[in-house]
Amino acid sequence: MTKEKAKEILTSHDQLQVMDGFDELSEDEKEGLLSQIEAVDWDAVDHAGHEKQAKRGEISPLAAVEISEIEKRHEEFTEEGIKEIRAKKVGAVLLAGGMGTRLGHTGPKGSLNIGKTRKLYIFECLINNLLEVTDMAGEYIPLYIMTSEKNHSETVRFFEEQNYFGYPPEEVSFFIQDMAAAVDFSGKLLLEAPGRLATSPNGNGGWFKSLNTSGLLDDIHDRGIEWLNVFAVDNVLQRICDPAFIGATVLDGAESGSKVVKKASPDEKVGVLCLEDGRPSIVEYYEMTEEMRTSFDENGELKYRFGVILNYLFRVDALERHMNDSLMLHVVKKKIPYIDKDKKLIEPDEPNGYKFETLILDMIHMMDSNLVYEVVREKEFAPVKNLTGVDSVDTARELLEKNGVTL
Ligand code: UTP
Repeated sequence: MTKEKAKEILTSHDQLQVMDGFDELSEDEKEGLLSQIEAVDWDAVDHAGHEKQAKRGEISPLAAVEISEIEKRHEEFTEEGIKEIRAKKVGAVLLAGGMGTRLGHTGPKGSLNIGKTRKLYIFECLINNLLEVTDMAGEYIPLYIMTSEKNHSETVRFFEEQNYFGYPPEEVSFFIQDMAAAVDFSGKLLLEAPGRLATSPNGNGGWFKSLNTSGLLDDIHDRGIEWLNVFAVDNVLQRICDPAFIGATVLDGAESGSKVVKKASPDEKVGVLCLEDGRPSIVEYYEMTEEMRTSFDENGELKYRFGVILNYLFRVDALERHMNDSLMLHVVKKKIPYIDKDKKLIEPDEPNGYKFETLILDMIHMMDSNLVYEVVREKEFAPVKNLTGVDSVDTARELLEKNGVTL
């Protein structure tokens, strides 16, 4: 894109401030900025803060395979899952492209040491959990790790330095997600350095497209992988490629599965599984109506009680069918580092703008069917979102110790 064209576009969106100091940039910086401007999603930027809430369809409860049933059929489910793993039909996808701004750790979130008397990194907890399954199955599971351009090289270097925590490096691949430009609360694009727009990873909903763009979908085909278990970086207790979860989903004939925990209270801030116009769907806590939050069924339980913990199973062919479907764009308030008029870098303590994300939870609605699979919260859900308080290093440590992990 030429400088003139960029100016024309920026003027029409009232964003010409981006070009301040353009002529002082090096040729490379100029080129970089022009291609960033070309990639801006103007629809998102122009409506930041004024977007309309998407209208939801007809919502009804969706039943889950609950813990009591899982206990009864555990052996049958596990056997089926192990069969799939041994047949090399299962892959794992770790979503580690987020910025972890709430935690505030410098470096990739997974490189945080949560040990007390020894070093125990978040990534290490996840690999240990995966190794439990691969040891049981006697077969390694290919692991695909999504990073962003902000943390890619550090993440790869960390895995290398730590010898992949004992996992075979040939089973681990990394891929980089896309970025999206961020704006301040008045909708103005920010610069994070002279000649560089402030951008953030574009949410965890783009993982499958990014996996494809990186060429790794070919690897998935070459290996004959049919199922992908996708999970977040920050739940240190989660079971990865849990054979019983895989087995239950396969035996059910569903094309996706979601691990859930029973909500601790009607007000707990988690997305819940439901049916929307007859298809599986997840409604975020802030979209739930008062009635949805507080309706009880005939057994006195919340009708919408199954909260997602960001651990999903997808059939690869179902994902491919929906590769080009677009996902809803979520606008999120975040802390966005930027340079001021004097080119001084400001690192805000409080959210100062909006970033734009698509979310993996919206992919569930693309699926024809979804098995809702309940797990025991104290055994499988210890997210590290904050340094202290709710969902923090402190709460995760407590839960790890309760589950017999030495810290
Ligand atoms: P979170 O919603 O906790 O976001 O991500 P975050 O960016 O990591 O953290 P905060 O909100 O800034 O504190 C849930 C999962 O999705 C991944 C994260 O790495 C985490 O595993 N994620 C999130 C991505 O891979 N890419 C993204 O763009 C956002």
